[in-house]
Amino acid sequence: MSFKAVLVLLAIGAVFVAAVPTPVEIEGEFSLVQLLLGSPAMRSDLFNVECVDYYSPLLKGHVDKYNEDFTTCKDTYDGAFALIDSSFQYARDSLAGSVRNSCLSLLTCDGRNSNSDAFDCLASRGPLASKELEQASYKASDNQTSLLGQVSEIADTLSKCQIEAYRTYNTNHGECYADMVACLGDPNWEFPSTSYLL
Ligand SMILES: *[C@@H]1O[C@H](CO)[C@@H](O)[C@H](O)[C@H]1NC(C)=O
Repeated sequence: MSFKAVLVLLAIGAVFVAAVPTPVEIEGEFSLVQLLLGSPAMRSDLFNVECVDYYSPLLKGHVDKYNEDFTTCKDTYDGAFALIDSSFQYARDSLAGSVRNSCLSLLTCDGRNSNSDAFDCLASRGPLASKELEQASYKASDNQTSLLGQVSEIADTLSKCQIEAYRTYNTNHGECYADMVACLGDPNWEFPSTSYLL
């Protein structure tokens, strides 16, 4: 195996991203490695082509596991989000009802026959309706603060979960990848006994 080829392989293995990459990005990286290793030029340059056949499925296994773990993190988040969101449905419906009643009490003033009655109706009901709307605004603001607080907690959990999944992937995939690179350059590479894998 030429030095050039080793360097290319190592460079790909060292690809690093600051944020947690999505499974799609990880799969893209994996496909690139596959593509390079599968090219005739590269294959003719390698000492030990069996390494690719042996390690590719193992690498793919780590990619699949990451995909699975990443998705599980998101599913857990989605479930928790739905629970939090539905726990505010009652508060929202009561606010909507209260606002509707306050507004209706003023709108019905329009149904009075004489101008004088309409003025009287608005003048007497206005302050209460206004107070009710102000209360509704306070409650909505409280509910919003509490809703966003709870969502921020589960978003934090989601982020930790995905970082953890990525670290696990990075460690396992990295070790496996290092083994493959070592194997590619070693004509006498001893493949691990498969008996313990079964
Ligand atoms: C929404 O806000 C109201 C008023 O502050 C409060 O009584 C209620 O418990 C809140 N609802 C939820 C689900 O937090």
